[in-house]
Amino acid sequence: MKDLSLHILDIVENSIAAGAKNIKITIDEDTKKDLLILKIQDDGKGMNKKTLSKALDPFFTTKKVRRIGLGLSMLAQATRETGGSIDIKSKKGEGACITAIFVYSHIDRKPLGDITETLISLIATRGFDIDFIYKHYKNKHGFIFDTKVIKKKLKDVPVYNTLVINYLKNNLTKEFEKLKKRSNA
Ligand SMILES: Nc1ncnc2c1ncn2[C@@H]1O[C@H](COP(=O)(O)OP(=O)(O)O)[C@@H](O)[C@H]1O
Ligand SMILES: [Mg+2]
Repeated sequence: MKDLSLHILDIVENSIAAGAKNIKITIDEDTKKDLLILKIQDDGKGMNKKTLSKALDPFFTTKKVRRIGLGLSMLAQATRETGGSIDIKSKKGEGACITAIFVYSHIDRKPLGDITETLISLIATRGFDIDFIYKHYKNKHGFIFDTKVIKKKLKDVPVYNTLVINYLKNNLTKEFEKLKKRSNA
């Protein structure tokens, strides 16, 4: 996978498969500590001890179709390539929290990629029954994008409506531009 946005999509797929209704994605870029921390939290069915202990094994999966099991192990590999690490916290019935830590400036640290595209495709396909919270910080400044808040404002208009999707896309693009400007300042 060439960038982190594709890893995010893949890890969120696990949350969706686990029946999560709330998925929280946080990116924390800390250039002072030289770290990029990606966190994905969900309220799905979680993992029992056995699953948790094998979750990083590239040949382990509980999927019945298209058995692979690479998602978490590839993310772990991507963190290790930078000298970073991954942490998985989960209990049966209590959701899961994946924290991937990358060394920010390492030459092998994958770029973020098109996060807007990733979020928009998740909202367009799963936004009707799943809520997403996206938080992005760069050196403590950032923004929060919360589909629960958006849905409240929309009242009866569905979040996957084409006009809404375009609006959200522009919104996210602007937020990322602001963040970029701030970090160059
Ligand atoms: N968020 C999650 N909630 C519950 N179980 C999970 C979650 N993420 C991963 N798992 C478990 O870890 C296994 C390995 O995940 P992964 O490496 O992405 O491979 P795959 O999705 O192909 O099985 C999954 O099959 C599932 O049993
Ligand atoms: Mg997976």
